[in-house]
Amino acid sequence: MAERRSSIHGQWSSKFVFILAATGSAVGLGNIWKFPYITGDNGGGAFVLVYLLCILVIGIPIMMAEVMLGRRGRQSPINTMATLAREAGASPYWKWIGWMGVIAGFLILSYYSVIAGWALAYVFRAASGAFTGVGGEEVQGMFSRLVSDPERLLAWHTLFMVMTTVVVARGVRGGLEKAVRILMPLLFAILVILVGYAMNTGHFEQGLQFLFRPDFGKLSADGVLVAMGHAFFTLSLGMGAIMVYGSYLPEKASIAGTTLTIALLDTLVAILAAVAIFPIVFANGLEPGAGPGLIFQTMPIAFGQMPGGILFGTLFFMLLVFAAWTSAISLIEPAVAWLVENHGYRRFTAAMLVGGLSWCLGLLTVFSFNLLENFMPLGFLGAFHDKTFFALFDYVTANIMLPLGGLLIAIFAGWALKREHSVDELRLGDGLVYRSWYFLIRYVTPVAVGLVFLDITGLLDIGGLLGFLFQGPWQA
Ligand code: TRP
Repeated sequence: MAERRSSIHGQWSSKFVFILAATGSAVGLGNIWKFPYITGDNGGGAFVLVYLLCILVIGIPIMMAEVMLGRRGRQSPINTMATLAREAGASPYWKWIGWMGVIAGFLILSYYSVIAGWALAYVFRAASGAFTGVGGEEVQGMFSRLVSDPERLLAWHTLFMVMTTVVVARGVRGGLEKAVRILMPLLFAILVILVGYAMNTGHFEQGLQFLFRPDFGKLSADGVLVAMGHAFFTLSLGMGAIMVYGSYLPEKASIAGTTLTIALLDTLVAILAAVAIFPIVFANGLEPGAGPGLIFQTMPIAFGQMPGGILFGTLFFMLLVFAAWTSAISLIEPAVAWLVENHGYRRFTAAMLVGGLSWCLGLLTVFSFNLLENFMPLGFLGAFHDKTFFALFDYVTANIMLPLGGLLIAIFAGWALKREHSVDELRLGDGLVYRSWYFLIRYVTPVAVGLVFLDITGLLDIGGLLGFLFQGPWQA
């Protein structure tokens, strides 16, 4: 066996801690804020089904590949890719995957921090009892008063970015390990309580039907792309976040087992959040396609009505902030690790630099909801005609950069890396499980990503195809 590298940044103290940290990275605003609202935007059931398929055939195999490459390279994604490409005798350009990831992470963090700021603001509203007895209209008013005020958004964005930068500066493996252990299960418990509330709204069934009865007529080609993009976003894939976490993974840990656990937990949280939200939407005559404000315009109604609502509401938004926080740190960890490795920066300086730049860029997202609300920077391009800076950053990162990064990672792991090296690193032996992964990563995953990209060009109709497969034969 080849000589093993070790990371200069240290190692997780156990496989369990890696699962916590990676789950912390995966579970975030993507699950509780983004998944419900894009599901609402894209008509429900069919979108959810495509998303789940993408998690299965694209997300899980790529996550295994990222962890595997990370542990083998034991450096920041840029250097890991450079080293592994050299060892495999492949082109040095593979390290550009790492570069694209650094840029994607930096772009994502810029708007992620602004949205996490909304959640911070809502902690205080919940605690002050502002939700007691509110209805649909008041809740919408409350939300638009917040986002139309650039100063307030800026203050919360700044606070969240400082929180993130401080943790990264001190090293990702400190107090966070302990916090994740307690707070993640608590978040889960609150979601279960909210689902309990949703069951009593009288519209639970309607919510479930919306989510789980696919109507492919409602799924556009763009919706298919958004579903795939979200599979990457929610699992933190395609930009090196999971790769860098993998580079701190102890030697013995099983990559397949940990990956499955993380993907399962992440999906469960997203589904619970959606199951809690949609009955509330329907019970209160709200719009499923309300956009990015959806959870901020629905959850408060529930907290305003349920017993103990002030406590649960405050806890819910605190835990949402926490989940966002553990995700945000993974967005800049690849860049910070690289600055430390290649430029001798101290972690502190590196974190301040990356966090500071991302904060500046975040201003464009802050203004996307007020001053620049009607400014569409790429308005002259058909596909982007209705996209503000925020919508543009979100679209380009989640739906283009992450899938592209993921596609390249799959190709590298499946084709460029020597087979015996992946056999060696995955520790699965050369049996059925390994072979299934190898088949997925070489053929299924790249083809699936390619087909979705083809779908938006209009050359292929995946929604129509799936509609035929799932509905045609049985329900005609
Ligand atoms: N997965 C996180 C969420 O769902 C967001 C996130 C953290 C992320 N790190 C990432 C997304 C890396 C893409 C890449 O909220």
